[in-house]
Amino acid sequence: MKIGSGDPTARRFVGKDCVVTGGGGGIGRAVALRLAAEGGRVAVLDVNEEGARETLALCGGQGLAARMDVRSEADVTAVAADIEKAFGGVDVLVNNAGIEKLGTIVETAPDVWDEIMAVNLRGPYLCSRVFLPQLLARAAKGGAAVVHNASLMGQVSSPRLAAYCASKAGLISLTRSMALDFATKNLRVNCVCPGIVHTDMLERRFALKPDREAAYARVSQRPPVHYIGNPEDVAAAIAYLAADEARFVTGAALTIDGGVGAA
Ligand SMILES: NC(=O)c1ccc[n+]([C@@H]2O[C@H](COP(=O)([O-])OP(=O)(O)OC[C@H]3O[C@@H](n4cnc5c(N)ncnc54)[C@H](O)[C@@H]3O)[C@@H](O)[C@H]2O)c1
Repeated sequence: MKIGSGDPTARRFVGKDCVVTGGGGGIGRAVALRLAAEGGRVAVLDVNEEGARETLALCGGQGLAARMDVRSEADVTAVAADIEKAFGGVDVLVNNAGIEKLGTIVETAPDVWDEIMAVNLRGPYLCSRVFLPQLLARAAKGGAAVVHNASLMGQVSSPRLAAYCASKAGLISLTRSMALDFATKNLRVNCVCPGIVHTDMLERRFALKPDREAAYARVSQRPPVHYIGNPEDVAAAIAYLAADEARFVTGAALTIDGGVGAA
């Protein structure tokens, strides 16, 4: 096995079947591309079916793209059955789909709170639960991995981000619980905690500002490294945690934030 998380030619996922939720754009797309570049067969799942199809095409067309809402048990169950039929199992599950809404608890209406929890916390729980039999079957044959996309905002907090931070802190906790529950079954469970990453999610925040360029420049200075991360930075870390070379890593929350959390 060629080792090196910085090397997209390492081919660590040859013969591996991988699932990426929220793969229709942003970090999820970069993850799908990385896994495919390293030889993996990828199922790209998203509420945005067109985005998922675009990602699959960018991956070279091998694999599967489907509409799937991580909030819906019916959706996840149906898509998991399709994947079992098409792939015969799953070695790697990346629970990446997530949403962000700003607000203090006063500004966050109960239905908005519920929606954030449904996507960011219940989604990874539900997908993990439904894909578990397929993951455990592959785990028994040599190892399988779940990687959740949490956030630095699950480790620290930020004003007017109450529900998002709570959902991501919950996801870090779920990572630890799942890691312990399946440690002896050859199924590893880890999460990444990205800081500020340039995707549509961030652009939607900039869109709320009167001067987008000034906001971008200001935010770029926030990380000690003085730049904003890109989706590929997170994809590289997810690929490492998903790969067999991380066989001794489980229950970890890997921060990828240009040093923000260290300050
Ligand atoms: N961008 C950042 O700065 C940042 C920082 C830390 C963590 N994250 C996390 O990374 C993950 C990806 O974020 P991103 O920045 O790429 O966001 P994004 O908005 O660019 O992409 C998110 C993708 O998830 C999909 N999605 C949303 N709700 C869904 C649902 N219910 N079911 C299935 N798919 C759904 C969207 O259609 C979209 O394709 C999220 O979990 C986010 O919380 C992002």
